[in-house]
Amino acid sequence: MASTNGVMLQEEDVSLLRVDNINKTFVTTRALRDVKFEVEEGEIRGLVGENGSGKSTLASIISGIIYPDNGEMLKHGKSYEPGSLLDANRSKISIVVQEMATIDGLTVAANLFLGEEKLFKKFGFLNTSGMNKSSMKVLQRFGIENIKPDADISFLSFEDRKLVEFAKALYVEPDLLIVDETTAALSQHGREILFREIERLKSKNRSVIFISHDLGEVIEHCDHITIMKDGEIVDTVTTGSLKERALKELMVGRELQQSYYREDTEAFYSDDVVLGVSDLTLEGSYYNISFELHRGEVLGIGGLTNCGMHLLGKTLFGLESASSGTIEVVKRKKVITNYVEAIANGIGYLPKNRDQEGLMLLSSIKDNICLPSLSKIQRNTFISPRKERELAESGTRQLNIKMSSINQFCLYLSGGNKQKVTLSKWLVRDSDILILDCPTRGIDVAVKASIYSLMQELKVKGKSIIMISEELQELIGVSDRIIVLKDGRIKRIFSRRKDLTEEEIIHYMI
Ligand SMILES: Nc1ncnc2c1ncn2[C@@H]1O[C@H](COP(=O)(O)OP(=O)(O)OP(=O)(O)O)[C@@H](O)[C@H]1O
Ligand SMILES: [Mg+2]
Repeated sequence: MASTNGVMLQEEDVSLLRVDNINKTFVTTRALRDVKFEVEEGEIRGLVGENGSGKSTLASIISGIIYPDNGEMLKHGKSYEPGSLLDANRSKISIVVQEMATIDGLTVAANLFLGEEKLFKKFGFLNTSGMNKSSMKVLQRFGIENIKPDADISFLSFEDRKLVEFAKALYVEPDLLIVDETTAALSQHGREILFREIERLKSKNRSVIFISHDLGEVIEHCDHITIMKDGEIVDTVTTGSLKERALKELMVGRELQQSYYREDTEAFYSDDVVLGVSDLTLEGSYYNISFELHRGEVLGIGGLTNCGMHLLGKTLFGLESASSGTIEVVKRKKVITNYVEAIANGIGYLPKNRDQEGLMLLSSIKDNICLPSLSKIQRNTFISPRKERELAESGTRQLNIKMSSINQFCLYLSGGNKQKVTLSKWLVRDSDILILDCPTRGIDVAVKASIYSLMQELKVKGKSIIMISEELQELIGVSDRIIVLKDGRIKRIFSRRKDLTEEEIIHYMI
């Protein structure tokens, strides 16, 4: 017997995939350092680690998207050097990447068969109807036939686009499927499809590498879990009876403080109302929503993904127009109808779909963070470079953003660090009212804790926060009150109390 990364193997066993001494440096960032990694047939392997620890880089190398600087990979004992994603697909390795990978302006079918169009070429012409028919079969197989092959993919929801990517990765019938931080974008329904297919692959002795910051989910579905830190593999453990807390500690590399969420057990905020929402309706999404947000209050909004809460958040920031009803910034007696008014009246907004809505990828971290705060760093018509730098530095420090400098393009940050930049730009702005849609999605456990304590600091300073979240523990952990939505209507409002349970809330959600 030999031990690799803690997993016992028979000497004569040949792994499905073996990665040997892989290194990868991006300009100045050493993303991977002597990575050794093996995946066996028929296993679901979890891959976890803090934001920027190198998970996506390793996944991209295995799936042929980028090349390692050196090192070697073997598949079933034979040299494996994918030159591209398609090349990896042909070797039966496929991936669902962390970021959005579909191409706007193309149909669902064209996205599904991107790079494989020759399958549908006849006398030099593309046989579109044949491609649509084949796509329909693929979509049906995964139970997502509600998505139409000839639809322009840009009109699909975020989740449906991810499901198309997933179908694309699966129809090659991979020996090894890599799923990189995808579940955070999916609803319960989407997750069910994903895990059903993952289990199906396993039952056929195929394997999956599953990357996620939802450690509960990783423990539930994976046989072994590999932990990365600063570009290195630090351990591989068998899941067995592993507890989430122990995994968190392995990941962060130190004992965690007992308190993750705020410690007080009762709601506490001022009587002053800062935002009044009255009878807000968006046909087809949510109906007759009325509530008051107080100074110093964290107001949670929870429900199933499609309960209307995400669109409600957008509306509160003026990015979506309600069919009827009003949103008023009470102190200024100002009714909000668009985002320019929202920003001018002290409202900040973190969208759930950060890749597309939250960042200028080709601008620096500094520019992204400072953009909503120009008035703070401006003197007459000039921007003070010193103030700008200080603001960006304080923002990146607060959230421990892993970067080479504040002048780095956001494009080159890891997924979670991109999310942190988006969050940071609203945190440093000192908005009176913050609307945060899934603020900890894709963010590692260590930084999650700092986000919660930052929210608490803001609250104590008299700022008000609306937190939309699909995580019940988080809602219970940080909110003064929780509004539960179901099918677009308020079902119940809970006040913070010691014995509030997830079950109680779920009862009103479904
Ligand atoms: N194309 C690139 N150019 C420069 N640096 C990069 C590039 N891609 C990744 N990096 C850097 O490599 C490091 C590892 O990033 P990687 O995306 O692999 O992290 P991750 O573990 O997937 O993090 P997350 O949990 O946030 O998704 C980070 O410091 C990141 O900024
Ligand atoms: Mg990543």
